[in-house]
Amino acid sequence: MSVKKLFIIGAGFMGMGIAQTAITRGIQVMVNDISDANLAKGRKTVETLLQKSVKKGKMTESAMEEALALLSLTTSVSDCKDADFIIEAAPENENLKVSLIKEVDKYAKAEAIISSNTSSISITTLASCLKDPSRFVGMHFFSPVPLIHLLEVVKGLQTSQATMDATTAFGEQLGKTGIVSKDEPGFIVNRMLIPMLNEAFILIERGIGSIEEIDLGMRKGLNHPMGPLELVDMIGIDVELAVMEVLYSEIGDPKYRPAVLLRRMVAAGNLGRKTGRGFYIYHEDGTRTPNTELM
Ligand SMILES: NC(=O)c1ccc[n+]([C@@H]2O[C@H](COP(=O)([O-])OP(=O)(O)OC[C@H]3O[C@@H](n4cnc5c(N)ncnc54)[C@H](O)[C@@H]3O)[C@@H](O)[C@H]2O)c1
Repeated sequence: MSVKKLFIIGAGFMGMGIAQTAITRGIQVMVNDISDANLAKGRKTVETLLQKSVKKGKMTESAMEEALALLSLTTSVSDCKDADFIIEAAPENENLKVSLIKEVDKYAKAEAIISSNTSSISITTLASCLKDPSRFVGMHFFSPVPLIHLLEVVKGLQTSQATMDATTAFGEQLGKTGIVSKDEPGFIVNRMLIPMLNEAFILIERGIGSIEEIDLGMRKGLNHPMGPLELVDMIGIDVELAVMEVLYSEIGDPKYRPAVLLRRMVAAGNLGRKTGRGFYIYHEDGTRTPNTELM
């Protein structure tokens, strides 16, 4: 069964990335957020990115118009009632996610699959607030969603095999290769990536290398497409802290303790690209310079 109607909660970086991917594959998408202003900002981001694709000759103007016509916006979760598939992509906060998923459960079709794009929160825990936990699954996308073609499909203890199969098939419909992960903190990729990014904060704290040297080291030495500090700026410093907190509290090993600098940067609102300031300062003309205040 191919998915025709998708409902996404959260018009942020991930929610709109998933929305963009889906509308360019002919899926009708409705995005929910807390305010019209957030929704308008999310739509604008998608429009700008699609216009760039048109300019580069990767997409025709009419294909862009067709895709944008499939995107609708709402501030009401009850509008999920017609959706075949629901993806929650709100901030990484368990209480918030539980309350949103409970709200979705009041209105969703009985056969709809409900999923979360959480980076670290237990799928089994989130599923336990649903009437039918067998229809709940983790769909962990990677950023930027239109460009990165991996999807972790996370099986909670009560997720049915039919839900797993339908989710993997939906991932393929979105152009993603699925890998199945057990419901363990960080799943497969973040279990390795997030502590590595945390270590890069510690390198800065100890003055082991400069921001640019650390990024260059991983790009040139390991052929990573991005260095860890530019990557964490893209992911969001707040997202990095939220995931480290879950890894530390669930696993308990000190190797997962968030770096002090990570906590300080979140407290200071230095959240990376989304606030214009993280390890780099992002200027209006599109250039960036290292944030030397951190050294
Ligand atoms: N940033 C990444 O690279 C990345 C990668 C994979 C998964 N994730 C996960 O995706 C989720 C979203 O992350 P993001 O980076 O898009 O965050 P974000 O801060 O860019 O976006 C979150 C959006 O949710 C909205 N929101 C807040 N409360 C809401 C509510 N009650 N109802 C509806 N919308 C609400 C916010 O207004 C915002 O637009 C998190 O769980 C995160 O861990 C993030």
